[in-house]
Amino acid sequence: MSFTRAEAFAPATMANLGVGFDILGLALCEPGDIVRVVRREQPGVSIVGIEGDGGVLTRDSRKNTASVAANAFLQTIDAQDGVEMTVYKHLPLASGLGSSAASAVAAVVAVNALFGSPLTLAELLPACLEGEACVSGYHADNVAPSLFGGITLVMGVEAGQIHKLPVPPNLHLALVTPNVGVPTSEARAVLPKMIPLQAMVTQTAAVARLVSALYRGDIEEMAAAMELDTVVEPARAHLMPMLVEVRVAAKKAGALGMVISGAGPTLCAVCDSEGIAKAAAAAMKDVYSEEGMGSAARHTQVGIEGARVLNLA
Ligand code: HSE
Repeated sequence: MSFTRAEAFAPATMANLGVGFDILGLALCEPGDIVRVVRREQPGVSIVGIEGDGGVLTRDSRKNTASVAANAFLQTIDAQDGVEMTVYKHLPLASGLGSSAASAVAAVVAVNALFGSPLTLAELLPACLEGEACVSGYHADNVAPSLFGGITLVMGVEAGQIHKLPVPPNLHLALVTPNVGVPTSEARAVLPKMIPLQAMVTQTAAVARLVSALYRGDIEEMAAAMELDTVVEPARAHLMPMLVEVRVAAKKAGALGMVISGAGPTLCAVCDSEGIAKAAAAAMKDVYSEEGMGSAARHTQVGIEGARVLNLA
């Protein structure tokens, strides 16, 4: 069965969870990107509109993450028809919330629905990764949680290498995104190429502690483990305005820990109630306001569901 138009949503994500660089990620309930596709007889993908990006993203369908991902899907199923695509950006760009991954995932999920869902969710992963790769490299710690939802352990780029981890029921997140862009490529360029053995041991222990805490539903322990990163945060800290001050403010408001979301500059506080997450988000935003810096703050939870089709006709 096939359709003439489809629309899909894919959530923002937080990669790394502090200590789990490139191997852990989680989906947020919101925000997320929406992609609408309309079937056409001509093969390939044309971008007919992008809204919410301030005109920054490329409309060139050979370079945009959403259209590259959709094209990869169409080639996988050997489609004769193509699509016209409109992307509705609800995520800030270069902010550490998996913006490119969300667009790629929403595009692929929408096109799959349009063509009668020939592929399973797991089979959509390679096309989503193609889209993500053209912007921020071939890694799945944003794409996987955006596609599958929940908290994911990403051991590689094959669907069989993605494991969903338990989500503590009372886990709430406070996020603040200052008005500065930090491109992932820049944030990766500052990372050390080699790390001392002792740093590897400390980091590995912290990841194990974090995963163990997730299985026990222990949010306090989870937050403590997330903050033990001695490799990536120290290297990136100078790219994140007011990192120390925001962490202090979040904890004063009751948050249990705070880490950089993905490659930043969004900062994410881990909380065990909605009330605390709301207070922490406000307190974190206040730090930037006091410095005369604009920011967007929100509180949300882990999105269990991941990407989904919104409309199909
Ligand atoms: N794990 C990646 C990083 C996520 O921190 O660079 C950003 O895409």
